[in-house]
Amino acid sequence: MTAQTTKRIRKAVFPVAGLGTRFLPATKTVPKEMLPIVDKPLIQYAVDEAVEAGCDTLVFVTNRYKHSVADYFDKAYELEQKLERAGKHEQLELIRNVLPPGVRAIFVTQSEALGLGHAVLCAKPVIGDEPFAVLLPDDLIWSRGDGALKQMADHAQATGGSVIAVQDVPPEQTGSYGIVATNTFDGQAGRITRIVEKPKPADAPSNLAVVGRYILDPSIFDLLETTGQGSGGEIQLTDAISSLLLHKPVEAFRFHGTRFDCGTHLGLIEATVRYALDHELFSEAARTLMQNALAEMGVLET
Ligand code: UTP
Repeated sequence: MTAQTTKRIRKAVFPVAGLGTRFLPATKTVPKEMLPIVDKPLIQYAVDEAVEAGCDTLVFVTNRYKHSVADYFDKAYELEQKLERAGKHEQLELIRNVLPPGVRAIFVTQSEALGLGHAVLCAKPVIGDEPFAVLLPDDLIWSRGDGALKQMADHAQATGGSVIAVQDVPPEQTGSYGIVATNTFDGQAGRITRIVEKPKPADAPSNLAVVGRYILDPSIFDLLETTGQGSGGEIQLTDAISSLLLHKPVEAFRFHGTRFDCGTHLGLIEATVRYALDHELFSEAARTLMQNALAEMGVLET
């Protein structure tokens, strides 16, 4: 046995209390996280990824308008009875398995949308003193092998410390992301020395951009408590991570997979196309109908 073992993460936080203004009017009544990609809402993809990584306690940070997120994970007695009576066993399994057995959902409220950092801080009483994951459901990550969080959890267990998912972005896009500087980056991972929120291309220390998957040391909560308002007047998780890396190791991890920014219209469209083309039932039909649509519009020759 090694002298120091790193705890496997068991708890995952899903901050879903944002206002989703970029998707209005759709998000006036339907939370962004409940928008579907082919046959599942965005939140379900993130939950499946967390469960695959070994998490059994899922903490949803919601607000008073997002009852549908809690309703989605609640038992739907009437619907289950109806499906059972109608012999619709496949559909019954689908709604029973939104959370697998042994996995529990806990809901905490963020009473005001004060920023992602503040949303994570709201989960402090449930997380306690152990490393935990944060997943932003609008960053959807498609991968053929292990999910992104599982890859990160394996890396965290092997190396200790916090792990942050990064991906390469074109230089002209650095202004839309948190960008990290690392030392000893070996192509997949490296220790973060600096994190800069939305730098201009000329000021960016690299083109490694932070995406919405984190494994964090619980000392982040103390740092969040003293983090003031940052960019956009919000309490930024990036600012607290910036302080964390001064006294604890924080690794950047370049995961295998494709990330879709489903917080934007084009990202949602792109993800829908990709998941439809990869779907075990709809793949062929989706390909045909996309080709037909392009041909009909004169974009593609038949
Ligand atoms: P975003 O800025 O992408 O989400 O926050 P948003 O504010 O809902 O969307 P727009 O920009 O108005 O369209 C990233 C994540 O952080 C959560 C969001 O729900 C999203 O998952 N968040 C953000 C909170 O939970 N609370 C906040 O105060 C802010």
